[in-house]
Amino acid sequence: MTTMESLIGLVNRIQRACTVLGDYGGGDGAFSSLWEALPSVAVVGGQSSGKSSVLESIVGRDFLPRGSGIVTRRPLVLQLHKTEEGAPEYAEFLHLPKRRFTDFSAVRKEIQDETDRVTGKTKQISPIPIHLSIYSPNVVNLTLIDLPGLTKVAVEGQPESIVQDIETMVRSYVEKPNCIILAITPANQDIATSDAIKLAREVDPTGDRTFGVLTKLDLMDRGTNALDVLEGRAYRLVHPWVGIVNRSQADINRNVDMIVARRKEREYFATSTDYGHLASKMGSEYLAKLLSKHLESVIRARIPSITSLINKSIDELESELDHLGRPIAVDAGAQLYMILELCRAFDKIFKEHLDGGRPGGDR
Ligand code: GDP
Ligand code: NA
Ligand code: MG
Repeated sequence: MTTMESLIGLVNRIQRACTVLGDYGGGDGAFSSLWEALPSVAVVGGQSSGKSSVLESIVGRDFLPRGSGIVTRRPLVLQLHKTEEGAPEYAEFLHLPKRRFTDFSAVRKEIQDETDRVTGKTKQISPIPIHLSIYSPNVVNLTLIDLPGLTKVAVEGQPESIVQDIETMVRSYVEKPNCIILAITPANQDIATSDAIKLAREVDPTGDRTFGVLTKLDLMDRGTNALDVLEGRAYRLVHPWVGIVNRSQADINRNVDMIVARRKEREYFATSTDYGHLASKMGSEYLAKLLSKHLESVIRARIPSITSLINKSIDELESELDHLGRPIAVDAGAQLYMILELCRAFDKIFKEHLDGGRPGGDR
């Protein structure tokens, strides 16, 4: 791993440990400000615009509930942890700390069950997030947040307030200055009416943290194309638009797997008469790389402030551990200790590379 990967990986693990600690009620200001200092990526868009599908493609695994209608009904905070080559791939929920999932269809089932546990088997939503970590050699270190889709009308069985409730929930994530916004817009709808772009523009007027993602290119009417959007003429963003072709509902029903889906997507762009010239800057794999590069530059710029926060946390953790003597909850004490160790590791790698050059300068 490069130094940057190690640093981002540590930051990821510190965030994870802080989350666990928060759940034990042991968190305080130092940890929450550390959490806020670290970037995450959230998907925003209308219902069925392809948000969950895009996240899955970025991860390269098949594990999220998807489909027509309101499927995602609680926020899912998904942390990807890059592990060493050859290490086994597994997933872990915060609410099931002792269980390692290696079967990703069981992960999907648990997300559905855990959603139902809080919301009932209805079309209700809840702002209480589900926390999931995936450990794999094949991911980039990222925190991704899947969110319910913005909607304009309540459906049968939903309270009228749901439209506003969803918007408030989504806004609470994307208004944070550390949140990178994936504004998901389906290509078969008018971009001028994109809820994603509208909200992104409101919370991120400069556009520095907004990435426009155009899904469903394959579903556009024959004879039309999205070049106006993809080439930045229809709606100019600071970062270039990325076009995507996710699995269709028919593909999902036929269990078309991720590798096949990615190959089909690559072929789609490579052989397209409309988009062939843009092929190298389109698709889910490109989006994943683009995001991780962006994240790297954001973290690099924030390293001085993250380092000072971490140093502050080390001091506070040490005095807190001194005070605790014998921690009230063994697990909370262990978590504090783990955060302390992670902070020290971050500090050490960072300092080593200050001596050897800029952090990440080894690539
Ligand atoms: P979400 O509600 O925004 O999370 O959207 P989902 O990812 O659940 O997708 C909603 C539906 O649209 C599913 O049936 C997907 O198969 C389908 N879908 C999403 N993206 C695409 C795409 O790029 N092309 C096609 N053909 N279907 C897509
Ligand atoms: Na959906
Ligand atoms: Mg969804």
